[in-house]
Amino acid sequence: MAPRFCVPATRRILAADGGAAVRAVVTGATGLIGRELTRQLLVRGDDVIPVSRNGGSLPAGPRVQAVDLERASMPRELLAGVDTLYHLAGVAHQQAREARYQRLNVDATVTLAREALSAGVRTFVFVSSVKAMGPARDERPRDESDLSHCVDAYGASKRAAEAALCELLDGGPMRLVIIRPALVYGGPLRGNLRWMRLAARLGLPRPPERGGRSMIGLADLVDLLCRLPREPWSDDAASSPLIVTDGECYSSQRIHDSMRIAGGRSPRRGRGSLVFWWLAALGLDVLLRQRPGTHFRKLFGWERYTSRRLLALGDWRPRETLESTVGGETGAPR
Ligand SMILES: NC(=O)c1ccc[n+]([C@@H]2O[C@H](COP(=O)([O-])OP(=O)(O)OC[C@H]3O[C@@H](n4cnc5c(N)ncnc54)[C@H](OP(=O)(O)O)[C@@H]3O)[C@@H](O)[C@H]2O)c1
Repeated sequence: MAPRFCVPATRRILAADGGAAVRAVVTGATGLIGRELTRQLLVRGDDVIPVSRNGGSLPAGPRVQAVDLERASMPRELLAGVDTLYHLAGVAHQQAREARYQRLNVDATVTLAREALSAGVRTFVFVSSVKAMGPARDERPRDESDLSHCVDAYGASKRAAEAALCELLDGGPMRLVIIRPALVYGGPLRGNLRWMRLAARLGLPRPPERGGRSMIGLADLVDLLCRLPREPWSDDAASSPLIVTDGECYSSQRIHDSMRIAGGRSPRRGRGSLVFWWLAALGLDVLLRQRPGTHFRKLFGWERYTSRRLLALGDWRPRETLESTVGGETGAPR
């Protein structure tokens, strides 16, 4: 029997902030970003239809609709009367098989955009990633046009999806906004941030001051996403990706210091042992079955981006830093 979908029948005219309420679909609504986006849209008084692969419930709000986008199309009734479709569902952090990146991050994204277009959705927001730009060549902060060849399946899939969406929607009635967030902090720590917290808790030596990366706080990213349907500048952003960072440069040393402060300790003194961290990174490569050098590059390489274009468009500004979300200040320069 075909699944039945329960869609709220009434629409509020005004959102809590006095602006017009929008009806939005959020895919990936049970993920790190989608969960907070759904919550914030509901707080603003919007009608939200959260969707994820397995469905389920969120702490507040409507039930999450289960739609496996790799295998099924989005039911038309979920798209009826929708102003904005936020497409966040994707495979990102896991070491997935290459075919899955293609199926979900590319093919399902394009299929969903076609369905949204034919259902009359006004704006399609695609949450891509800075990884779509390929690896950095040096330490300079990169803008949206500074692309290199994508070497990993995740980045390549996001780049391919961006290109396919632009081709499909260029000049058409549905507005396309592509957002490229840097690594997101806030909420449960993942990846290198989690390793760094573990290192700080275990009292490991301070990493050397070397390399740096851009990141963005979850609350700031979600604030930006919530503004998109109402911001007049979103029209100017259409079809051209926007990088989102908090404007900071985080070295592993800075991250380690902030994790120690968050744990109630003072940052370790000294320049840090490169040999120790080289061995630790190699250990992680072995543990996680990655190519030798992968974690060392992540910890001590450069990955910097600039949000200059986004900042010039409107009055969205990042308000948080890693230190302000994990607690305490490192005194690192802003
Ligand atoms: N987190 C970051 O640092 C970061 C940075 C840049 C860009 N992004 C991008 O932002 C988006 C959201 O990231 P996130 O970290 O919030 O992701 P996440 O926590 O890994 O959550 C992934 C979401 O996608 C859903 N999903 C997975 N496979 C699906 C399928 N076949 N059909 C329908 N839904 C499916 C999951 O649903 P279930 O829970 O039901 O499986 C879940 O809701 C992703 O596209 C990611 O590439 C993330």
